[in-house]
Amino acid sequence: MTQLSPPSVRSDPQPFDPAAVCRLTRELAPQIASLPRLSCVVEQFLQHVGRDTASTVDIAAALSLDPVLHGWVLRQANSGFCKLNRPVVSIAEACVVLGLGTVTRLVYAACTRDLLQRRLHCYRYLGNGFWLHGLAVGLAAKHLVELLGTRAPLGAESAQVAGLLHDVGKLLLDERLPRAKGPREITVAEEIALAGFDHAMGSAAVAATWSLPDDLVVAMATHHGEHPAGGGCVLALADRLVGHWGVGGATYPRLDREPPLEDLLTLGHPLVLAEPQISRWCRELPPLFEGLAQMVQAIGHGTPPALPPGAPAPAPSSRASSHRSQHRSQRPSRRSSPRVRTRGRGRG
Ligand SMILES: [Fe+2]
Ligand SMILES: [Fe+2]
Repeated sequence: MTQLSPPSVRSDPQPFDPAAVCRLTRELAPQIASLPRLSCVVEQFLQHVGRDTASTVDIAAALSLDPVLHGWVLRQANSGFCKLNRPVVSIAEACVVLGLGTVTRLVYAACTRDLLQRRLHCYRYLGNGFWLHGLAVGLAAKHLVELLGTRAPLGAESAQVAGLLHDVGKLLLDERLPRAKGPREITVAEEIALAGFDHAMGSAAVAATWSLPDDLVVAMATHHGEHPAGGGCVLALADRLVGHWGVGGATYPRLDREPPLEDLLTLGHPLVLAEPQISRWCRELPPLFEGLAQMVQAIGHGTPPALPPGAPAPAPSSRASSHRSQHRSQRPSRRSSPRVRTRGRGRG
């Protein structure tokens, strides 16, 4: 096990400090260098896909940089669920068949497989839960930013990438923290006391090393802060709700659980979020999570998923409905679902 750094003098999350991120980036450089890099497609997505004028041409140009992802998207577009009466041979056509949202979700899931498909020793996630949690927080953050419109502190794609990677610092800490008998919940205060930094700062150090935009670095660094800056608020809200619903958590997700409105209103105060907006966000998220776990499982096994998350692609109605009913039958029933322990703020 890596030698632990001296304990920090503070045990509570600190406000954003750019100098601290720089120091941590230098200190953790060898460990960060050993992490699988994101595909260069993500960089392109951050530049193009978040624009109002983003088009299938932008996505096709980005995907042309990564033949593996390019192949994934085409295979998905030609998979059973989406098959038309002719093969889909171009990314532009795949974007039309699958929808832009599904293509971006597929790309983000595929390009983080090596990075996030990990079984952590010191944190509680079920199976591919760590990966799933990042994808869900990314989707929730992106949707919140879209609802906020011009008041949003982050672009939609930035929010999705920030959410996807917001906990990546846990990968660094998992190698440094003492291993208990089994995975457990480790608080931010414990992380700081044991390793000298928390996972939010670790995530920011990774993002800074990878030259992700500054607003993403700040958002990741502050997502557990008492006063999250800019996009940190968006991530804190998304993390709280996804954790509450147990997506990627230690047991089955419960998207039917009443959202923790009071907490969300408090967290959303800096964004001037009123209850109707938060309620709408909570109401519109579960359909976006539909199929996400199956997609992660399929990509984890190296096969294109049969059912893409989000809006279904055009397909013969009988086939689509039979697939949907099959999917519904795989979901745990509300009555039989085990209860999910609510995670407190500062742990997700
Ligand atoms: Fe976190
Ligand atoms: Fe989290």
